[in-house]
Amino acid sequence: MNRLLAARGYVYACVLKKPSAFRYEGMNHLAAVSELAMLLAARRGENTELAGIAGIFHDFSVYAEDAVSDHAHKSAAAAAAWMKENGSFSREETEQVIGAVYYHSDKKMKHLPLDEILKDADVAAYVLEHPGELTERERSRWNALKDELMLP
Ligand SMILES: [Fe+2]
Repeated sequence: MNRLLAARGYVYACVLKKPSAFRYEGMNHLAAVSELAMLLAARRGENTELAGIAGIFHDFSVYAEDAVSDHAHKSAAAAAAWMKENGSFSREETEQVIGAVYYHSDKKMKHLPLDEILKDADVAAYVLEHPGELTERERSRWNALKDELMLP
């Protein structure tokens, strides 16, 4: 099975099991970040599949486990467990996805290319989902991304 679709199916099923009022919002956000991460990966010559998988898992613990605090690290652990269970990912692929999810909340720091793709995709999704609510935390990334994508 397509690994990206398998990851998305697993994450959506976990989120839908939660009786949270935010589950549909959560699935929309996870899907948006996954797609935007793939677009940025294509733009930057990085692995689109791994970007999409990192995107779908990045807030897993928020929407599937109701765990907001330390959610990047908890979501990285969830991604690691699923990738191991899936059995088709190399160690390097797993480390790239786990690293991107693990560091995605550290928006002010620079990390590896896939990590930066996930952070930028998360900021882009937030800005597009919440027009007019750009915070200082997202501003410099969003401005750099607008330049890169030649957005007005
Ligand atoms: Fe997010």
